[in-house]
Amino acid sequence: MRFVANFKMNHTRASTQEYIQELNAHLEGVDSGNVLLFPPATALCEASGKIDIGAQNAYFEINGAFTGEIGLEQLGEFGIKKILIGHSERREILGESQEFIAKKFEFFKANGFEIIYCIGEPLSVREQGQEALFEYLFSEFDGIDTSYDNFTIAYEPIWAIGTGVSATIEDIELVHNRLKAQFNKELLYGGSVKVDNIADIAKIDSVDGVLVGSASLKAGGFAELIKKGLIA
Ligand code: PGA
Repeated sequence: MRFVANFKMNHTRASTQEYIQELNAHLEGVDSGNVLLFPPATALCEASGKIDIGAQNAYFEINGAFTGEIGLEQLGEFGIKKILIGHSERREILGESQEFIAKKFEFFKANGFEIIYCIGEPLSVREQGQEALFEYLFSEFDGIDTSYDNFTIAYEPIWAIGTGVSATIEDIELVHNRLKAQFNKELLYGGSVKVDNIADIAKIDSVDGVLVGSASLKAGGFAELIKKGLIA
């Protein structure tokens, strides 16, 4: 079971360092390789103790004239080899198209990164039924080489992100079972995962891990979530 923290635009460089120290202190007995943190770009650092570090975003070049972006060179400084691609906030708020996302995927694939690839539907699609739901979700794989080995899928229904209302166990099973059958990849669930619901989510066979936003922001709380997930 893998526990992935997505800080989004939260925490500073200093508070991320404090967090890493505090979380590591709580991770005795937890296997290495199961905890991954995506801090904001200004707080990127090397992996430390049991905590691996990935990038929330980067541009698909080594370096160059891409104002405001970071590329392979900046990630390389910290030995970062994991990246989040396709998060709904980047698709919706930052306007990343499927074509643009596919270019990122290709570049980081070519550079051997583990890609945590996010998909998820808005409520309006979910309400149209299963056919519309899967048509939408599968369209988010357009241009994506799903045969790439080092690739994890994160299913995050948009209506469950940051709302406090997670998808139900049945909602998660429906999508995860289908994705498992189709791609046979490691599958994370994300969307209001918290201490109160991690045990039920972790018990789902087709859930291999969780991607956690709000409930990952405090080290103590995330450590508790990890412990509950591991004994579930
Ligand atoms: P949330 O965010 O846990 O705050 O719902 C999850 C995510 O967007 O990765």
